[in-house]
Amino acid sequence: MIKQALYPGSFDPITNGHIDIIKRAQKIVDVVHVAVFDNPFKKPFFTSEERVELIKKIFPSDQGIIVTAFKGLLADYCKSSEISTIIRGLRAVSDFDYEFQLAHTNQKLNDNVDTIFLMTDLKYSYLSSSVVRQLAHFKSDVSAFVPKEVQYALEEKFNE
Ligand code: COA
Repeated sequence: MIKQALYPGSFDPITNGHIDIIKRAQKIVDVVHVAVFDNPFKKPFFTSEERVELIKKIFPSDQGIIVTAFKGLLADYCKSSEISTIIRGLRAVSDFDYEFQLAHTNQKLNDNVDTIFLMTDLKYSYLSSSVVRQLAHFKSDVSAFVPKEVQYALEEKFNE
């Protein structure tokens, strides 16, 4: 049994596809650390604080999930948090090249780290955060793709 694992991502915003991966990870890991990346190269739609708060609202009293934000290299964050397992989701074959590069780079930077890949449910294989943002921007119903907490946050943000 793996005790702790990091599930890193931008989660801008978290979608049902990410939630599917978190729930799958919970079956094999005692504690899943959902790690929100504060990317200095991208201007996010939701701030990292907002993304963390949204994920905490979705998993409020769940003992097995810890939500944090991180800056810098993932390999360094693994080292400082003493976690050596990374969870990543694979939606389609097209994700593989990028994940291959990411997993090997992380291993090169921190050879204690291993990545476990979980297959996203087929019904979320086409889903992405930017698709959800675009749909919400054009006032399309996103309730099939994100939990209600995210739906309300998107509505609020677009009405600002
Ligand atoms: N369901 C739905 N969508 C999913 C998904 C799933 N299961 N898995 C991925 N996605 C989507 C996301 O919504 C996102 O969509 P978008 O591009 O439309 O916003 C896209 O796939 C990529 O998402 P994510 O998994 O969050 O990856 P990322 O590229 O934003 O970030 C990190 C990946 C955070 C793990 C990586 O950038 C990282 O480790 N950064 C730290 C810096 C570092 O260490 N760099 C060196 C390593 S090369």
